Amino acid sequence: MSTTFQLNGETCRFDGDPMTPLIDLLRCQRFMTGTKAVCREGFCGACTVNVEGEPVLACLRPVGLLEGLSVMTIEGASRYDAEAQLLQAAFERVDAVQCGMCFPGMVMSLSKFLRETPRADRNAVKHAMVGNICRCTGYERIVDAVMECLAEAHSAGGADV
Ligand code: FES
Ligand code: FES
Repeated sequence: MSTTFQLNGETCRFDGDPMTPLIDLLRCQRFMTGTKAVCREGFCGACTVNVEGEPVLACLRPVGLLEGLSVMTIEGASRYDAEAQLLQAAFERVDAVQCGMCFPGMVMSLSKFLRETPRADRNAVKHAMVGNICRCTGYERIVDAVMECLAEAHSAGGADV
């Protein structure tokens, strides 16, 4: 069976078991290793990608359910998503990254949050991170970085939600 979808803006055709988890297609066949496979059980958020603009866990999403949809990974977001780029720069600036395993998923979850909630406070940022576990527990610096991004978006005139 064949499944065709958009992957970072390009057509991706997959001929194989439709129950193949998206994470395996990305990492093992497309060699997009930015998306991390950590728990593979839906608990950690490290494998988060965007499907139709919504954060989705690639370890739980079978490729067969992606027919006709648009998938963005961290590789695509780094190129095309302004909020993801802002976050990546801020994480580097505040030296938030430790082992780095959680960060691709964090960026994919938080870029949508940043886009849609430009006036969020620190508490709202923490809530937005609930599905993304950092085993190195550098949460406060991650929140600092997101707060910097919100301030930047604010001064650039982001819309209120
Ligand atoms: S690897 Fe998918 S949620 Fe942990
Ligand atoms: S930096 Fe190591 S898991 Fe987050």
